[in-house]
Amino acid sequence: MGAAASALLLAACGSQSPSNPDDNLVEGKRLFVERCGSCHTLARAGTQGTVGPDLDAAFRQSLSEGFGRSVVRGVVAEQIRNPLRNGKMPPDLVTGENVTDVAAYVAEAVDREGEDTGLLATAVPQQGGDSEPAVAENGVLQIDADPNGQLRYVTDTAEAPAGRLTVRMANPSPVEHDIAVDNGGVAAKGEVVGQGGTSEFQADFPPGEYVYFCTVPGHREAGMEGTLTVR
Ligand code: HEC
Repeated sequence: MGAAASALLLAACGSQSPSNPDDNLVEGKRLFVERCGSCHTLARAGTQGTVGPDLDAAFRQSLSEGFGRSVVRGVVAEQIRNPLRNGKMPPDLVTGENVTDVAAYVAEAVDREGEDTGLLATAVPQQGGDSEPAVAENGVLQIDADPNGQLRYVTDTAEAPAGRLTVRMANPSPVEHDIAVDNGGVAAKGEVVGQGGTSEFQADFPPGEYVYFCTVPGHREAGMEGTLTVR
């Protein structure tokens, strides 16, 4: 039997790997987090968007019914190329070969226990958590949005002296964000800005602990918040 015939047989069984050697899964993951993660939850990618369906849940049933991951890959690519015309998912989020890279990564990742390993583990730098706190300088506290499109700020802790403060967030990511401060009721907020924009406000801060967060629906819930300590 020739190579092409055995490849066809394998394809018919649905048992072949959903990706092929030309796929760039690392790029697929990076793009997924940047362009898709604000709307979709995918555990392996660490995204927690809630605007669209949870992709792990969406494909769990078909996988358990024996559909191969190559089927998932096809569905994802089709959805990227032709989202519902009146739906909430924008067209052309990724194009060309990037469509297959993203589809291949999603097909590999959906409904899999555990964490990505190897190169995939480093595809998207982790933000927040362990990073250094943001510290106010000359009355300005700058806390930028995560550049990779994750629903995070670059840090989840900040410090400032009491008094008048400008809180500023640059948004390098393709996802809309703002920054607001909560001290038991939203005290003040900047405007929602897209890529390249700056969200900013001024307020008086007596000493205390505050929460800063993004007011775009679903973002705070997904972890886009941090603690500001004013002394
Ligand atoms: C602005 C929010 C948004 C973004 C960004 C987005 N989606 Fe979606 N997606 C949705 C919504 C909402 C749906 C449900 C169907 C609809 O309204 O079009 C959906 C549906 C889907 C589905 C079908 C799931 C099912 O249950 O059948 C897949 C697969 C999918 N999206 C993948 C992606 C991928 C991959 C990307 C990035 C290239 C992406 N989405 C970016 C909002 C989004």
